[in-house]
Amino acid sequence: MPGKPTKSEEEKSTEEDSLEDLPGVGHTTAEKLREAGYRDFMEVAVASPDDLAAAADVGEGIAQKIILEARKRAKIGGFESGAEILERRKRIGHISAQSNAINELLGGGIETQAITEFYGQFGSGKTQMALQAAVTVQLPVEKGGLNGDVVYIDTENTFRAERFSDMAKALGLDPDKALSRVHVARAFNSNHQELLVPKAFELAHDRPVRLLIVDSLTAHFRAEFLGRGALADRQQRLNRHMHELLRFSDVFNAAIICTNQVSARPDVLFGDPTGPIGGNIVGHTATYRVYLRRSKPPHRIARLVDSPNLPEGEAVFSVTGEGIRD
Ligand code: GTP
Ligand code: MG
Repeated sequence: MPGKPTKSEEEKSTEEDSLEDLPGVGHTTAEKLREAGYRDFMEVAVASPDDLAAAADVGEGIAQKIILEARKRAKIGGFESGAEILERRKRIGHISAQSNAINELLGGGIETQAITEFYGQFGSGKTQMALQAAVTVQLPVEKGGLNGDVVYIDTENTFRAERFSDMAKALGLDPDKALSRVHVARAFNSNHQELLVPKAFELAHDRPVRLLIVDSLTAHFRAEFLGRGALADRQQRLNRHMHELLRFSDVFNAAIICTNQVSARPDVLFGDPTGPIGGNIVGHTATYRVYLRRSKPPHRIARLVDSPNLPEGEAVFSVTGEGIRD
């Protein structure tokens, strides 16, 4: 490789990747990339050429070359052997939902390297599920957590610190410490919501973020893109947003939780009058899709409706003063 200065092993492990080592990346381009949240080879390696081209202000051809070299440096190639895939899957972690029934339904809990979508009507328990996971992820692995921090993108201003504290106390955590490990950002519109993902990438370089929540994934998009004419745009933006979330889950071996409403009135745009918003785009990108509905209080029913490797099924759970329980 031309011009690459050799560094001692120690320097290599303590220094950040130098983006300037990539072909066609000078200081200015490297700065632009870092500003856009691409800090190391891995993040560049998993970018899409048009995203990278826009961020670095270069042509797509150049972007493609940069990405290819970053893939080599980050040691991710075009093909992975089955053994490598198995190895990566072994790193998958699970966050306990604090309900054995739900953990069983989800094959061990809420998975990392995946998006889990909870959808349902108002009051079905989507936000409670998200808050519970935001507490549980902080626990050590042997207690169902991942010893991690949380990024909480709140689009509806429904994050309640008091409720979060109660749930933390119930699991024996120091509530103040637990609150300091959840990083909440209020998203004011869909564009702001999208911009919070690169912010999360930045944060995850300093903190061990193992869970990213978007509550709600679709509310802003739904409110802003009205009518048939806006549908294609909306779906494209949602698609891109979700792929950025997936990228986050891959890079940091983190779990992603998204919540989604169902449209209460017949929505001609999606065919299914009571289906989740965002239709196929959201459904196909989410790895696990869980439908929540009310039952006899305090019971709720969770139904796994879409999963690559688990059977469909239902679980009964409760929303209690302490949080989600069986
Ligand atoms: P939308 O965001 O409106 O679409 O609904 P959601 O699905 O996010 O509903 P959420 O998760 O906020 O569930 C609200 C329900 O959780 C309430 O109706 C209560 O039944 C229950 N809940 C919320 N807070 C508490 C609490 O402190 N104690 C108990 N026991 N239940 C609670
Ligand atoms: Mg909610």
